[in-house]
Amino acid sequence: MPESPAKLIDGKVYAERLRAEVTAQVAELKASQGLQPGLAVVLVGDDPASQIYVRSKGEHSLAAGMHSVTHRLPQDTSQEQLLALVAELNSDPLIHGILVQLPLPKHLDERAVLAILNPEKDVDGLTMISAGRLASGLPGLYPCTPMGCLILLRETLGDLSGKRAVVVGRSMLVGRPVAQLLLQADCTVTIAHSRTADLPAVCREADILVAAVGRPRMIKADWIKPGAAVIDVGINRVPFDDPEKAAAGRTKVVGDVDFKSASQVAGWITPVPGGVGLMTVAVLLQNTVTAAKRQAGLDV
Ligand code: GUN
Repeated sequence: MPESPAKLIDGKVYAERLRAEVTAQVAELKASQGLQPGLAVVLVGDDPASQIYVRSKGEHSLAAGMHSVTHRLPQDTSQEQLLALVAELNSDPLIHGILVQLPLPKHLDERAVLAILNPEKDVDGLTMISAGRLASGLPGLYPCTPMGCLILLRETLGDLSGKRAVVVGRSMLVGRPVAQLLLQADCTVTIAHSRTADLPAVCREADILVAAVGRPRMIKADWIKPGAAVIDVGINRVPFDDPEKAAAGRTKVVGDVDFKSASQVAGWITPVPGGVGLMTVAVLLQNTVTAAKRQAGLDV
């Protein structure tokens, strides 16, 4: 029997909806409180992918009506200079959210930067305090991409309680926090990784499969339980399949899931691009509004 193709989870639709909600919240805060949420984004160096992400964050925060500042620092910025900028932003009353784009150049210590970042302004949800609040099930600022995954799953499946979720990848940015959020949503959660024995069999148990490994098209159709919801967090640059385009050095973006075959088995699947990636900025804006309200002593 031919298997039916999965339904697409369209990140564009949900990201636009969330950005519209945030824009309305910003307008309301300005009108009723004279409060304009402010976001500072810090980019060190010239990584091309990071430049694209940072530009998008700046543009969307302005479009939502926020105060938005982007600090672009040279590749050879010292640890002291970066820490001094973060300290300055920590005490700037116009800035409610600070995001230091990762990865940093190799000579800089990411942990030291996150250690001094004011947790009240940690709209990326990456400080120890934010991670601890998430792991403890307390309200806080939660990481943007994992929150984006949860929003897409809730919109698609409704109640997630009792579902078996498998997260492939254990990074601080995605794998670990998305597993915590799925646990909070009453899923039965497995975190799989590069040392997991028989990874395909583990994945096949999942009603919800989240792929966050950074390996192009690693997850194949026969790793997926028929009807499962597949959330692909991967953003990998690969040469075009067309040999002529590949020979010309042209690349395209693919996920961690082999979309073409997987979409014949899954019940739901996010495309790459056009899926989770679009949610990240929308959640960042929402976190900035939440941070601004908390700092102003307002209910969230
Ligand atoms: N690099 C890739 N994704 C992210 C993110 O969500 N936050 C930060 N700070 N850096 C990233």
